[in-house]
Amino acid sequence: MRRILVTSALPYANGPIHLGHMLEYIQTDIWVRFQQSRGNQCSYVCADDAHGTAIMLRAQKEGVTPEQQIANVQAEHEKDFAEFMINFNNFGSTHSEENRLLSANIYNKLKENGHINVRGIKQLFDPEKEMFLADRYVKGECPKCGTLDQYGDNCESCGATYNASELKNPISVMSGATPIEKESEHYFFKLPEFQSFLQEWTRSGTLQKEVANKLGEWVDNDLKEWDISRDAPYFGFEIPDAPGKYFYVWLDAPIGYMASFKQLCDRTDGLEFDDYWKPGSDTEVYHFIGKDIINFHALFWPAMLHSAGYRTPSAVWAHGYVMVNGAKMSKSRGTFIKARTYLDHFQPEYLRYYYAAKLNSRVDDFDLNLEDFAQRVNSDLVGKVINIASRCAGFVKKAGGKLAPQLPDQHLLDDAISKGDIIAQYYEDREYGKAIREIIALADIANEYIHEKEPWALAKQEGKQDEVLGICSLGINLFRQLVTYLAPVLPAMSENVTAFLNVNDLNWDSRTAILTDHSINKFKALMTRVEKDKIEAMVEKEKADAQLEAASTPEPNNTSGLSEPICDEIDFEDFAKVDLRIAKIIEAQHVKGAGKLLQLTLDVGEGKTRNILSGIKSAYQPEDLTGKLTVVVANLKPRKMKFGVSEGMVLAAGPGGKELWLLEPHDGAQPGMRVM
Ligand code: MSP
Ligand code: ZN
Repeated sequence: MRRILVTSALPYANGPIHLGHMLEYIQTDIWVRFQQSRGNQCSYVCADDAHGTAIMLRAQKEGVTPEQQIANVQAEHEKDFAEFMINFNNFGSTHSEENRLLSANIYNKLKENGHINVRGIKQLFDPEKEMFLADRYVKGECPKCGTLDQYGDNCESCGATYNASELKNPISVMSGATPIEKESEHYFFKLPEFQSFLQEWTRSGTLQKEVANKLGEWVDNDLKEWDISRDAPYFGFEIPDAPGKYFYVWLDAPIGYMASFKQLCDRTDGLEFDDYWKPGSDTEVYHFIGKDIINFHALFWPAMLHSAGYRTPSAVWAHGYVMVNGAKMSKSRGTFIKARTYLDHFQPEYLRYYYAAKLNSRVDDFDLNLEDFAQRVNSDLVGKVINIASRCAGFVKKAGGKLAPQLPDQHLLDDAISKGDIIAQYYEDREYGKAIREIIALADIANEYIHEKEPWALAKQEGKQDEVLGICSLGINLFRQLVTYLAPVLPAMSENVTAFLNVNDLNWDSRTAILTDHSINKFKALMTRVEKDKIEAMVEKEKADAQLEAASTPEPNNTSGLSEPICDEIDFEDFAKVDLRIAKIIEAQHVKGAGKLLQLTLDVGEGKTRNILSGIKSAYQPEDLTGKLTVVVANLKPRKMKFGVSEGMVLAAGPGGKELWLLEPHDGAQPGMRVM
């Protein structure tokens, strides 16, 4: 019997579980249930990831303490997971006493071993909110290409990466204030000292090939010290002996795996924490994660464990990202589907089956195609697997409810039983798609057999009753093999089938005991078809939620909620992209040959000028405009027009062309100021 500990990544406690997350929890849960079905001792733990700035701010916004905030979210997460039949043995929180202790102990060991470095660094600081600003809380102009409104780490327009302090005209996303540079002491984990350890560890079969190759380049060249501290205010654990300094959320998050397991050990006889975390034990530890968090699990985490004297994971397995209908999940398109919304429309096992049917062991992204989802569930599960039982059960019941004492054509059953070894290997290797293909091929064989033998026709003939019972008893036995193989994917269905077949369990090895001369119970419908119109209803519900969310987020003085749209609506995200600024018209002139256009030279602040061609000639004399202030869309891509390049757009509203937005230079309006 193997002794295995399995984890899924800890979901952040600042938002709901969605179908992207669910790929991971379903993938892991199937693997765990498979191991348990094989008779291995397999524990599955997880927790909410409760620390960090985002969670602190979310709590502030909701007007609750961070502790209340994470408790509320955790209750929702646990409910979603339970309904999706994710069978955690323990679901904890990184904000637990166990985690506080383990994190402090591990940190102290790193420090004793000389793996912590303390030095001052300069960072942007919001003087109004009095806090340091992480990259995503700063926006400004790209230092390379000048694109406005870029985050503090990279530019969406030219792809440049930089430090937040390099942004031009930075503003704090939190307060709108101009950040200042401020120095403070930070604590660093000396990752470069683990270079040779990581060179070996990452290439020792612990990672998927493509992951090992990618990390390899990095490990060989470019390991940097890792900043593991954050200054107050921060929601997390204070660093021992460093008041006002907190562990960065990613330091204590993976330790949360251990802390959650510790809680399980504390209440489970015979399960020993040290058996799983001390080096040299024969237990196995696996982390299932998404591709975005590989560095944390395959570099920092093993190095930390190594330094602190713990064992390192047996393997880290990354999966790709869920796309919906071929595109990134999108709130406005209604494809950012929350676990809850899905559950309000469909049975959880449909999704478990669809994910299993398409999963492999690689890091590729995963396309959740909603049409295909309905199609596969209906044709495979309802049309093929369940069909076998529903065709056979009635005849067995008519014959007294007992399976035949001997089976005809038993080679079919022998084949199905022996296929179990290949299918098991596919599950073990996380090649669920291949496992499902084998299972459905067996279902096809069973259906062909029944189709050929036509028990319904035989049943009408004199003296064929034994033959009918034999055929259907074989059918039921084949069905049992299929459900045994599908049980890790379909736990509720397999439980119902266990009752229907009147057996103790459907564990992997029990399948070799053939059911003959055995009473079965009444067959009840196991699963209904996916109703396709519910797909649209689900997507529409998400669209409506996205609109509500957008309407309730910004504008503190808009308490009215939703209002009737007066024309085609755009998403808030689209609107937020528009950069409106005050501009001063330094010069306006006629454009030779153009009947409608004026050419405007605008001062857009910071000594920059823009050339704009605007169709306002019929309404304004150039000399009336010079010296006036107007509002421009400053980030419109330059457009080549017949009469030259226009580098923006001045705002006008109204039907006639004489409605240019002109402002008088009172109220302190200045060129370059943001409007909004
Ligand atoms: N809190 C960290 C993990 C800490 S583990 C010590 C985190 N949380 S998360 O909520 O953002 O993501 C949890 C898991 O879900 C991650 O493995 C992440 O890769 C995965 N996914 C999140 N969105 C996903 C998709 N759209 N598709 C597939 N997996 C996705 O990261
Ligand atoms: Zn740029």
